[in-house]
Amino acid sequence: MSTETINRNLPFRMIAKTLFGLEEILSKELADLGAGKLKIMNRSVEFYGDKQLLYKANLWCRTATRILKPMASFKAANENELYHKVSNIEWGKYLDIEQTFAIDAVITKSQFTNSLYVAQKTKDAIVDQFRRTSGRRPSVELNNPDIRINVYIFKNECRLAIDSSGEALFKRGYRRKTGKAPLNEVLAAGIVMLSEWDKKSSFVDAMCGSGTIVIEAALLARNIAPGLTRKQFGFMNWPDYDQQMFDSICKKARGVVIPELNFEIFAADLREAAVYDSQDNAKEAGVVENISFKHCAIKDLIPPEFPGVLIINPPYGERISINEIEELYHSIGDAFKSNFTGYDAFIFTGNLDAAKKIGLRTSRRIQLYNGSIECRLLKFEMYSGSRK
Ligand SMILES: C[S@@+](CC[C@H](N)C(=O)[O-])C[C@H]1O[C@@H](n2cnc3c(N)ncnc32)[C@H](O)[C@@H]1O
Repeated sequence: MSTETINRNLPFRMIAKTLFGLEEILSKELADLGAGKLKIMNRSVEFYGDKQLLYKANLWCRTATRILKPMASFKAANENELYHKVSNIEWGKYLDIEQTFAIDAVITKSQFTNSLYVAQKTKDAIVDQFRRTSGRRPSVELNNPDIRINVYIFKNECRLAIDSSGEALFKRGYRRKTGKAPLNEVLAAGIVMLSEWDKKSSFVDAMCGSGTIVIEAALLARNIAPGLTRKQFGFMNWPDYDQQMFDSICKKARGVVIPELNFEIFAADLREAAVYDSQDNAKEAGVVENISFKHCAIKDLIPPEFPGVLIINPPYGERISINEIEELYHSIGDAFKSNFTGYDAFIFTGNLDAAKKIGLRTSRRIQLYNGSIECRLLKFEMYSGSRK
């Protein structure tokens, strides 16, 4: 069994988890924060750094869902071996008897088939060790535990990590109101970053729903760390938590916020309630002053001056007929041509058949997932007369 170094002065290994398709962007974010030995993996990026970097990665990474600190890895052929090897870890180093904890287990291509059972066996090994040594045991709390342990099993290779984020990092805390199909905040930030928007020209979401895309765009343009409004991170419950260090990282982050923007961010939606919701959410996120809101259909939208970037996430058609959805996507193509000349227009959709009805040539197609739905981010360059 290999256990990770706990010498506080040495750089240690970390794993930043993300969504499919955002690995390279996350790796760049981590490199900008000073991470070393970056290695892009499937839905995650491995990197090395110190405690400061662990705090910064949680505060700053727009495209990370969690930052994990690996603690042990070993092979196990069955649940009993798993129990035995988990028992060999000195749990008192990671968890106080008065703290609550939870196990998240993920299994891929393995003889282990039941992730709940794996989580239970791991939990049993931990609490039995505490019982043996002190006669008492820490409690399990599934919703808001003090310490989260991550178990990942690939074939017969088990990797245990302690989760420094606590609640997933896409829970930024600003989204109080949502429509029927809000985007995950990490996905929205990733889409904005994949668009290569220059953060100097106009930005529009003409189907804003709860406003996630424009809010993430405004946070990015104003250099606001996405974790700045969060009250709680998992590492705050760790025995080595250095509050002074984290306070100073937050203070620096507040100091680099760009106070005003001199271009327009624009949000619109056909549904009036969506416009109000996105306004409320933008207020929570502290960027309502940077966004103009309008209640209208995309065909009637007069956007701010080009050049600019338009990103829309239209309905995929689960609740309406094929004819209606095809008509909607056809009208999106018409609106791109008539209203968004000079823009780089992007559509993020899980309905690839309907997307063909847009009737324009894509210049980029990026595969992403919205939950379990395979999606594409499609780019259309709407050249202006002068650019032709
Ligand atoms: C999938 S939701 C967008 C979700 C959004 N990205 C979020 O994070 O909350 C699609 C939105 O498109 C809006 N919509 C549908 N047809 C429209 C049209 N013709 N013009 C403008 N908005 C439209 C809907 O009202 C809905 O809010």
